[in-house]
Amino acid sequence: MALSKDFLWGGATAANQYEGAYLTDGKGLSAIDVLTNGSATEPRLVTWKKSSGETGTAPLVWGQKFTFPKDATPTILDGFYYPSHTGTDFYHHMEEDLALMAEMGFKVYRFSINWTRIFPNGDDEQPNEAGLAFYDRLISECEKHGMIPLVTLSHYETPLSLMIRYGGWSNRSLIDIFERYAKVLLERFKGRVKYWLTFNEINAMEHAPYMGGGLLDASAQNRAQGAHNQFVASAKVVRLAHEIDPEMKIGQMLACSAIYTYTCDPKDAIKVMEAQQEELFFADVQTGGRYPEYRLKKYEREGIVLDDCPQDYELIANYPADFLSFSCYGSHVLTTHENTAKAQGNLGMNGVKNPYLETNAWGWTIDPYCLRLTLNTLWDRYHKPLWIVENGLGWSDELTADGKVHDDYRINYLRANLQSMKEAVEIDGVEVLGYTMWSAVDLVSNGTGEMKKRYGFVYVDRDDRGNGSLKRYKKDSFEWYKKVIATNGEDMR
Ligand code: BG6
Repeated sequence: MALSKDFLWGGATAANQYEGAYLTDGKGLSAIDVLTNGSATEPRLVTWKKSSGETGTAPLVWGQKFTFPKDATPTILDGFYYPSHTGTDFYHHMEEDLALMAEMGFKVYRFSINWTRIFPNGDDEQPNEAGLAFYDRLISECEKHGMIPLVTLSHYETPLSLMIRYGGWSNRSLIDIFERYAKVLLERFKGRVKYWLTFNEINAMEHAPYMGGGLLDASAQNRAQGAHNQFVASAKVVRLAHEIDPEMKIGQMLACSAIYTYTCDPKDAIKVMEAQQEELFFADVQTGGRYPEYRLKKYEREGIVLDDCPQDYELIANYPADFLSFSCYGSHVLTTHENTAKAQGNLGMNGVKNPYLETNAWGWTIDPYCLRLTLNTLWDRYHKPLWIVENGLGWSDELTADGKVHDDYRINYLRANLQSMKEAVEIDGVEVLGYTMWSAVDLVSNGTGEMKKRYGFVYVDRDDRGNGSLKRYKKDSFEWYKKVIATNGEDMR
């Protein structure tokens, strides 16, 4: 059994990492616009100011509790570099980049809408027409090239004003504010956009609550409440979308990967089981439609009490996600044993180094079996259509003097990952709607804020300090992916 002829091949990007133009045409500030660049060894910083005039920074260390001074406000300060302000300037290269995606044969392009282009403060009285017009043009451009859009409503772009006034997603007010924002877009693009995602990597609320929830106080109570509020908001968006257009499909987006035990010590197996519960809890609720017992028990133990009401649970049960999409970059290894080398991973989901697998320069594991395992786990548990909306390899690519990038390491990574995906479809019968590689074009890394950590099929001349011509160059992987799409995944040599 080969992939279906309708299989949706494409690539993905996110507004805050790609668009730049952070104040253009009335855009407001979001969480990421006050976040500096970092590196593999230095964390990104949230810059802040107090009413006394004192200024400072709060480091965003993956996997560690984020602490932010109580009486400070996140703000832009002189002397710091903020990569989201310019991204790789998609805002002014939109037609050019879409033409490159079309040249590769993309059937689908996944992008996110920057909430603060539509509502600069998140909840303004009127939407900003200039912001809507930009996405209108973008969708027209997709239509021109015969690519369907897959649109993320919120990809780490919580409006800064909502963070300051409401404390971000830990406040229930954001449920209705978000529904109103979604309504504007669902109505405006009715009949033109069928597939939507509500929150990028919704489990970032646990691992990266500043990114995922705009939380300045990331206590366990606030993270739990933030997740609950996003579940209810997602359910309301599913209900709304089906009312506006029964053809619309609203997906969940989960950061997911295979997790292995380091030893056969049963204690390691329990640790892995608990880590999987942590990850799948978010899909159990948003796609499965109910809070799992293990999570309720955890809240009981930890004294977490949700600000909720019975209607929340009815909404969650009645309006689950139509499909389940996920990001998957590599696998993780966990152990209860000491003295083993540490590894890194997406959203700081680190564990120990897998002796059987290679890593990239940022310590992320390259695992040729990861997609088959992850697809099977999700399919067995939910039996809803799946969609791989992020998978790719971050690498410090070199542009040669004659304008080439020989990224055979990326081709090898993608070939192995796509093979693993095909095995899940062909051997195990998993239903997969599509694959959007991260990232269609080079953009700023989310975790480190670097340009050096590149993922695209298209190289953009931009460095870690914002220098460079922004000129686009096709990498070797560009031609390779074009062939893969043209043969519907049959020729991956
Ligand atoms: C996911 C995000 O976490 O992984 C993307 O949805 C991100 O925004 C991608 O860019 C890769 O992570 P990073 O940190 O290497 O950019």
